[in-house]
Amino acid sequence: MKRTEISKIYENPIAGDITVCGWVKSLRKSKGILFIMLSDGSTLKNIQIIAEEIVLPNFSILAAQNTGAALEVSGVLKLTPEAKQPFEISARKINVLGESSADYPLQKKAHSAEFLRTIPHLRPRSNTYSAVFRVRSEAAFALHEFFHQNGFVYAHTPIITDSDCEGAGEMFSVTAGDDFFGAKKASLTVSGQLEGEYMATAFGKIYTFGPTFRAEKSFTPRHAAEFWMIEPEIAFADLDDDLKLAEDMLKFVTDKILSRCSDEIDFFENFYEKGLREKLQKITDSDFARCTYTEAIKILKESGAEFEYTPDWGADLQTEHERYLTEKVFRKPVFVCDYPKEIKAFYMRLNDDGKTVAAADLLVPGVGELIGGSQREERLDILTARIKETGMDIENYSRYLDTRRFGTVPHAGFGLGFERLIMYVTGITNIRDVIPFPRTAGTIF
Ligand code: 4AD
Ligand code: MG
Repeated sequence: MKRTEISKIYENPIAGDITVCGWVKSLRKSKGILFIMLSDGSTLKNIQIIAEEIVLPNFSILAAQNTGAALEVSGVLKLTPEAKQPFEISARKINVLGESSADYPLQKKAHSAEFLRTIPHLRPRSNTYSAVFRVRSEAAFALHEFFHQNGFVYAHTPIITDSDCEGAGEMFSVTAGDDFFGAKKASLTVSGQLEGEYMATAFGKIYTFGPTFRAEKSFTPRHAAEFWMIEPEIAFADLDDDLKLAEDMLKFVTDKILSRCSDEIDFFENFYEKGLREKLQKITDSDFARCTYTEAIKILKESGAEFEYTPDWGADLQTEHERYLTEKVFRKPVFVCDYPKEIKAFYMRLNDDGKTVAAADLLVPGVGELIGGSQREERLDILTARIKETGMDIENYSRYLDTRRFGTVPHAGFGLGFERLIMYVTGITNIRDVIPFPRTAGTIF
């Protein structure tokens, strides 16, 4: 169909003949006139259509249309600089492409997020989800752009895997009833890191970007069973190099969202998070904070704040601790480094103190943990001992150990939770609302 997208009209409005296609957002009737707000999804903005009875032979059919109906509108674009709308289309011909029945759930009134989750097939047409999923798309593209510009190879790692990268036993089994893959047990991947490391020891710098799965029964607004992760892996690099990469990446993607999703950021600023634009601007302009886990525990203990879980050296930081650090103490993104080895994964590099590992989590206000990363243990003997110590089956990690046998190098990487990034940049507080078709413990929407 020959049509002009509404986004193009806003970019460059030229008075004259035009055809647009879209869905009715609202339809107001006045004597002999219909005011139709039309959306085509190319932008958050709608366009106003003026439909007059004296011009349109099918006026009565048009007047009977419901919200959600699909229309093809031909007419004249008129610039209206004095009006609320910068322009409108005076219709000469309107085809009803698809009617919508009166029970269309997305009526003009505001709906709760809970209700909208029950209609995942329709909610992308609402303003909030339209804005969220466009930001999601732009953020994904910007991430690819960042890594491509910096010479990274995009590595596709498998979704069906035979090793538990995080060693946390949170894998979904994959089976076709019989043992499809032979004797080895297959699962959905929890992380592409191990394969990412294999690719990094060939290319030097790689990243993965794909779905990951966790069978962890965390009923929180931050955990999904299926989510997307970006995992860069860099050879000839230590933890400092890793954190610099993470910070550069986040600044790049934030900057692109600010410039490419300006309408969406305004929308979120108005309806979801006051001060959002300033927060995002600050990310691009100022340095992230950094502290060690040991310092973080000390700060939390001395804070005088009431926590449900008492902060204690050796125990994992709880969300309440993470949020206190980033929201109250540092008031910006903060890397917490050098965690006790007992609470972190087997592959993290043991520090000289013998007690902590070269790991870092990036905590951000409103979300908590956004990134988890580390320098990897490149020393064969120490890595072998760590795998045994954690009670994992060494047989399953022979390939991983090969990379330490054949030209091992210092290397590092991290995983960015993509949905959490979208939560952070939009101010949306539930992960179910930043993934089009969310899968969380207990529900499949
Ligand atoms: O901290 P995690 O578990 O780290 C890894 O998987 C490493 N293999 C990454 C690496 O070094 N290559 O997960 C990384 C990030 C977390 O910081 C969080 O943002 C996100 O993934 N994440 C989740 N997001 C949504 N739902 C869940 N259930 C998540 N679990 C982790
Ligand atoms: Mg983590």
